[in-house]
Amino acid sequence: MYLSYSEEHLLIQKAAKDFAQNELKPGVISRDSNSLYPKIGVKRMAELGFLGMTVSQKYGGGGMDTLSYSIAVEEISKVDNSCSVIMSAHNSLACWGIEEYGDDYQKDKYLKKLAVGKTIGAFCLSEPESGSDATQQKTTAIKKGDYYLLNGTKNWITNGEKAGIYVVIAQSDSEKGYKGINAFIVEANSKGLTTGIKEDKLGIRSSDTSSVMFQDVIVPKENRLGPEGFGFKYAMKTLEGGRIGIASQALGIAQGAYELSLKYSKQRKTFGKSISQHQAIAFKLADMATDIEAARLLVQKSAFQKDNNKPYGLSSSMAKLFASEMAMKHTLEAVQIHGGYGFVKEYHVERLMRDAKITQIYEGTSEIQKIIISRSLLK
Ligand code: CAA
Repeated sequence: MYLSYSEEHLLIQKAAKDFAQNELKPGVISRDSNSLYPKIGVKRMAELGFLGMTVSQKYGGGGMDTLSYSIAVEEISKVDNSCSVIMSAHNSLACWGIEEYGDDYQKDKYLKKLAVGKTIGAFCLSEPESGSDATQQKTTAIKKGDYYLLNGTKNWITNGEKAGIYVVIAQSDSEKGYKGINAFIVEANSKGLTTGIKEDKLGIRSSDTSSVMFQDVIVPKENRLGPEGFGFKYAMKTLEGGRIGIASQALGIAQGAYELSLKYSKQRKTFGKSISQHQAIAFKLADMATDIEAARLLVQKSAFQKDNNKPYGLSSSMAKLFASEMAMKHTLEAVQIHGGYGFVKEYHVERLMRDAKITQIYEGTSEIQKIIISRSLLK
């Protein structure tokens, strides 16, 4: 298992860190306050190769391992988790499944564009009445000869407005339950596809989250991913890897909050000494650093298993659960360490605290992760 980074990993870390610190940090407060999409940031992520990191070079991607991807997500999340969720959904939820389960036609037509960031991908699973209980898909894709007719509404879709390509999970045969669910590639310019307004969110405010509506959208049968009825498993397998991305986001958020807290606590003086010299603060820093390290090891274990073709569903759920709970806890502490300054935007930690919250929710709440983990233990 990885216990240190290779030369290549260190280079990727430096590239992601330089990008985040030099290009994302300057405008991050304003983008967050005004819910502004990081258009230039996304363009730069494409140019720097962050939008197709793990896609094989054959399709124009970076051909990198999952650890490289996790390292880049962590560095970007330290500064701007809105940018990293765009990257994470694109890589883990759109590119990965198409490469893993798509056929040559689909990879040639869609993956090549996604891998270089020419178009952005989104994953449409959640619905107004189906989030955690993902088998209850109300969106239908009824087969009509050589196409499927897609109808329904998807909610909370990351990259919802900006995507050029959607991976859509829909029910084709309700009598078969989850075995009737399919996954499709749907082009954004399809007739009958519309998007809702950008959600006004607590955190990750500059990323674009919206509903996506389908009204009699014609999806060619060539765009079905995997065999008939494979859609639920497609979604579950996609989420297994996606959770490594979310755990990496949570890790980056916590690491960012820790670094800011460490710096601030050495500068800020009370009762004649820096606050870091007060045990009440020093112990918080010790807990933060220890939990962050533990989360990083869990993430690395899952990345290692994925890269070495071992089952990683359990470890990715553990990593996601632990890292997201840890990020929430310690970003709250980071605000506390900063005192009144922590409550204002200029000091960044309040944004990291708000951004941490979503990591406990998306790609399966903490409660869902506990279902997955406990089922695995008890089976
Ligand atoms: N890999 C492969 N197959 C899997 C699987 C996995 N990880 N998990 C389940 N399956 C299979 C099961 O083996 C079973 O198939 P068989 O009958 O052939 O054995 C079938 O799927 C049904 O499985 P379950 O009975 O376990 O299904 P369930 O209804 O009890 O629920 C669940 C399982 C884990 C709770 C699942 O519904 C789940 O993960 N829910 C959370 C969904 C989620 O994360 N939603 C977030 C939306 S995406 C998002 O947030 C995107 C974004 O934009 C950031």
